[in-house]
Amino acid sequence: ADHRPLADRHVLVTAGPTWEAIDPVRYIANRSSGKQGFAIAAAAAALGAKVTLVAGPVSLRTPAGVNRVDVESAEDMARAVKVALPADVAVMVAAVADWRPKEYRGEKIKKRGSAPPALMLAENPDILTNLATGGNRPELVIGFAAETENVIENAKQKRKRKVADWIVANDVSGDVMGGDRNRVHIVSADGVETLDEMPKSAVAMALAERIAASLKVEAAE
Ligand code: C5P
Repeated sequence: ADHRPLADRHVLVTAGPTWEAIDPVRYIANRSSGKQGFAIAAAAAALGAKVTLVAGPVSLRTPAGVNRVDVESAEDMARAVKVALPADVAVMVAAVADWRPKEYRGEKIKKRGSAPPALMLAENPDILTNLATGGNRPELVIGFAAETENVIENAKQKRKRKVADWIVANDVSGDVMGGDRNRVHIVSADGVETLDEMPKSAVAMALAERIAASLKVEAAE
């Protein structure tokens, strides 16, 4: 038998940005590299989990032992997350675009004419909240929070608002976005654990170990 701490567990991870198409050649996106989410998928797989990684558009290699589902938009990501259920754990690391263009223009918008076009936006589904409040809820739902100020206070509020069990807060006022290191605070009902700054792979392993420990406690109760 596989005695690794996440053996027989299904861990669902979202990672990367989303692209929200304006027309066939243009889109709205953000600076997420996907590195932290991919590292978490890799760490969970290394601890024996079956891992589904729903990835937005990134140029990263699929970690060993990870089942990767590529998506482009937030709506695609929301669908792929539903399809991947049930899961024991969900770690939502993706930097989902808050808004998408209200309508997709099937033909490239022409520059000719006088005024630049006005972009009307529509709100994207909140994948994390829908997962945390819907049927088939994973036992442990973890969100991320990228903040530039009041990092811990905002994370505590986000944990409640999103109905997540844990929020992993990182201070992105430095060069975390796209970088290889991260400093995070894990905010749960039990309080706040602040980890030292370390490589994203080490943050991922620390988180995967805490996930395994938390599931074990639940199983024992
Ligand atoms: O509200 P905010 O975007 O800061 O929340 C971040 C957390 O929520 C992350 O875990 C992110 O993956 C998740 N999220 C989501 N769907 C959205 C927006 C955020 O799953 N539309």
